[in-house]
Amino acid sequence: MCGIVAYSGSRNALPVLLGGLKKLEYRGYDSSGIALNDNGQITIRKRQGKVSELISMLDSDSTLEQATCGIAHTRWATHGPPTTENAHPHAGGKGDLALVHNGIIENHRSLREKLTAAGYVFCSETDTEVLAHLVDLHHKGKLIDAVISALREVEGTFGIAAMSRHEPGVLVVARRGSPIVLGLGREETIIASDASAIIKHTRQAIYLDDNDIALIQGNDVEIQALDAGPVSRPTSQIDWSSNAAKKGGYEHYMLKEIFEQPEAIRNTLRGRLDRNRGNALLSGLNLSPRELSELHRVLIVGCGTSMNAGLVGEYAIEDFAGVLAEVEQAAEFRYRNPIVKPSDLVVAISQSGETADTLAAVREAIDKGALVSGLVNTVGSTIARETGRGVYLHAGPEISVASTKAFTCQVSVLLMMALKFARSRRMSRDAGCRFVEEIEAIPSLVEQVLEQNDNIAKVAERYVEQSSAFFIGRGYLYPVALEGALKLKEISYIHAEGYHAAELKHGPIALLDENVPVIALCNEGPGKDKTLGNVAECQARKSRVLGIVTQGDQEAIAALDDHIVVPASPPHTSVIPSTVALQLLSYHIARLKGCSIGQPRNLAKSVTVE
Ligand code: G6P
Repeated sequence: MCGIVAYSGSRNALPVLLGGLKKLEYRGYDSSGIALNDNGQITIRKRQGKVSELISMLDSDSTLEQATCGIAHTRWATHGPPTTENAHPHAGGKGDLALVHNGIIENHRSLREKLTAAGYVFCSETDTEVLAHLVDLHHKGKLIDAVISALREVEGTFGIAAMSRHEPGVLVVARRGSPIVLGLGREETIIASDASAIIKHTRQAIYLDDNDIALIQGNDVEIQALDAGPVSRPTSQIDWSSNAAKKGGYEHYMLKEIFEQPEAIRNTLRGRLDRNRGNALLSGLNLSPRELSELHRVLIVGCGTSMNAGLVGEYAIEDFAGVLAEVEQAAEFRYRNPIVKPSDLVVAISQSGETADTLAAVREAIDKGALVSGLVNTVGSTIARETGRGVYLHAGPEISVASTKAFTCQVSVLLMMALKFARSRRMSRDAGCRFVEEIEAIPSLVEQVLEQNDNIAKVAERYVEQSSAFFIGRGYLYPVALEGALKLKEISYIHAEGYHAAELKHGPIALLDENVPVIALCNEGPGKDKTLGNVAECQARKSRVLGIVTQGDQEAIAALDDHIVVPASPPHTSVIPSTVALQLLSYHIARLKGCSIGQPRNLAKSVTVE
């Protein structure tokens, strides 16, 4: 999704901006651009395609090397196709100012009409150019006053950075619904929509709140709330090392992050399990014993991979704690006027902590008076701050657009939640201690799957040519089927659907033939025999079936065309090694197909629009 970098300081701004854009590439984008303010002259350069193409275009442009202030952007098209004209920055008026924007201006049509009537000529189809001209319309004195006036007329979401040729060295940045972080350097400020673009320069950061607007010049930072005057925001320390956000010798971030999972899960679990009391601590949930015992229902909301993890949470919380649990797409929850009670705990799951629909679901749940908690990876993100209570994943930065370690860490936390809720009810200490052991074994289960990477790569060779696939599973392995199919389609562009194994015959089976393989989760456990029955049904329609099977299960192996083994584990923890096996399968299929695993087409890492 769109990314912003901006710089004001004493250094040459260009390399800082371009370096920042490279760091934001992982978020997904289709064009990029920069604007530099060099003593009263604003120069804009932008380009459809990759940041590397923008960089080659700038190579021959030595005029840009003096500027010490600038803004830059990677655009993920929303209004208008991904062309150079639609790329940011956009100039306001006759080029007196330049602006970059993340988010969506919802009333852009009426504003465009008003500005056209006032004589403004548009060069792009974007809502951002509307905002740039609107700022220009109000630009009679200071830039910050013009931005404030313009933002008062705007409906929608924004993270913006703007500069005027009349105020060299000055940046105005603001946010509503789209993150902006200010990186505080010695004689400089580096601004970005995502901390990964600033950690090379500084770890001291201020996260703007919604409706904050900041005036920045060098290391001077003044923040005000759009309608309430000056405010002070805390400075926090970003604890990600820049190494954690590098590829570390792996061909793709996705592979690196798949292999990081044992360590990431250990970090998620660290200090949160009590072996003696057979319980999970999770003090960040901040639930009093009374709130815990009166918990009526757990409502889990999220999008994409995070929602799939939520489904495992639903199963485990009902299974072990006997507490009603439901999972719902955040986008649906926010609009359908759900019934939420004060004794309900809403758990918002989000790797980025910025997903627009999940954030809106959080706000809806807060307004309805529920207990609302976040299960978030990115420290300081909006969902983490607005929920105020919750559990950080501690998975480290997840750069790959296709989410991997966030899922397995989310599931790990949800299992701990199930344990905590169960222990506050009927689960005995002994059963709790066994549960703790099962959770603690997860990292080693994952290691055993990772050891089979080469073998999984060989299995993948047999599935590269297919254009469609079904993933099936039952019980805890049903969410794994959904997540396996999501991974495959995201990075290999093979059409893939996850189904409950029993549902396959209610429609999708019509599509099966020798060209449509089925990936079946056949691990030892309650639903295995029935799933093997479904496997036979698929094979009878000539589908090739690849099964995930428990090590040593010769019966299952004999029933399958291909198999990948995972170590034995109880159903609720087998989710994690089985998912890791499917992550590797998708990765290798996409690699063999030559797909752009680092930047899958049309996808964004953090979806901050509806
Ligand atoms: C995007 C990403 C997915 C992710 C989803 C939710 O669609 O491409 O990988 O699962 O957003 O993101 P979140 O940050 O809220 O977990």
